[in-house]
Amino acid sequence: MEVTRLGYPRATERKRPLRAQTVHVPPAHIGSASRTGARDACRMSRAVVATAFGGPEVLAIIDVDDGPPGPGQIAVDVRAAGVNPSDFKFYNGTFGRSAPLPLRVGSEASGIVTAVGEGAVGPCGQVAVGDEVILYRINGGYADRVVVDATTAVPKPPSMGFEEAAGLMLTGATAVHTLTATTVGPGDTILVHGATGGVGQMVVQIAVARRARVIGTASAARHDVVRALGAEPVTYGDGLADRVRALAPDGVDAAIDTVGTDEAIDVSLELVADRSRIATIAGFGRGRDTGIKLLGGGPGADPGDDIRYAARLELVDLVAAGKLSVSVAATYPLTDVAESQKAIMTGHTTGKIILVP
Ligand SMILES: NC(=O)c1ccc[n+]([C@@H]2O[C@H](COP(=O)([O-])OP(=O)(O)OC[C@H]3O[C@@H](n4cnc5c(N)ncnc54)[C@H](OP(=O)(O)O)[C@@H]3O)[C@@H](O)[C@H]2O)c1
Repeated sequence: MEVTRLGYPRATERKRPLRAQTVHVPPAHIGSASRTGARDACRMSRAVVATAFGGPEVLAIIDVDDGPPGPGQIAVDVRAAGVNPSDFKFYNGTFGRSAPLPLRVGSEASGIVTAVGEGAVGPCGQVAVGDEVILYRINGGYADRVVVDATTAVPKPPSMGFEEAAGLMLTGATAVHTLTATTVGPGDTILVHGATGGVGQMVVQIAVARRARVIGTASAARHDVVRALGAEPVTYGDGLADRVRALAPDGVDAAIDTVGTDEAIDVSLELVADRSRIATIAGFGRGRDTGIKLLGGGPGADPGDDIRYAARLELVDLVAAGKLSVSVAATYPLTDVAESQKAIMTGHTTGKIILVP
């Protein structure tokens, strides 16, 4: 593999040809000028859609032709897509039911650029056919091929596999937001609730890279995972505050909740004196009552869009420097998308669930 001048790694391999089957979705960009690689000549692809609001049973795989990329867009041959709790919350109605059906699903993916529209410039410069990229935030990552704005594409670190890369951005950008909002820096002792989850693992690693001391909650069976990330594990459940005090008798400077339980909020309030240094990404109801920071989508929460978009390049740099990695808990073929959703819905995932088209 060669590395391009502007930082997008260029693929030299070729993927299997795509099947051409029934067309269900009309071309979106017919007539637009684009540079197309041989791989994009056949544009038929499979995409996962939610046909109604509901559980994994509403998901279907359909054949689509999204057309060539329009101005500022790129077409990407998807190699892997990240699965996140927000995906099922999107189609089960948690975030509302106003979006038109069918819904394309999946907000992050990795892959190889197969066609480039006029003026398609990403955060690291001109994007070219063959570039290996990570896409975030996009709509419809659960697919063989996507057509997206070039601004969503950052270079995939050459050392990182496509599956790991597909799980880097949503959790990583969220983690950077939590650590920025709570001003975590060198010498801080912080408590991370849910340290083995997708977001939790990112928070722990990035906090350690920022030279903070990290205490992370996990079920007893997963303490080794927390240690391997560079943190000190503590079992969640009754008596959590006392167990944390035993580890950190001088106190805890900041707390980050990725779980949203009353216990996570209450223990954070008990141990951290400054409420502006407590943040939750999942316990918005309790968080709103207590004056702590609510981060992400939803009423009264700080979406942190600028911080999260800027975080993409920091995440890539940390990976390249060997300070950040993505642990893949399980991979599923696109045809087993319902199973991937059941796995993430357990709420006890250790690392990332990844779909491989
Ligand atoms: N607001 C935002 O911007 C934003 C962004 C991303 C995610 N989120 C939300 O944040 C949550 C976590 O996302 P994720 O991707 O990290 O999920 P995940 O990968 O499924 O991780 C869930 C983690 O929670 C832990 N856990 C489960 N029950 C627990 C309990 N009672 N006490 C402490 N830890 C417990 C699990 O640990 P064990 O297996 O050891 O039990 C597991 O490590 C989800 O609700 C998601 O929707 C919000």
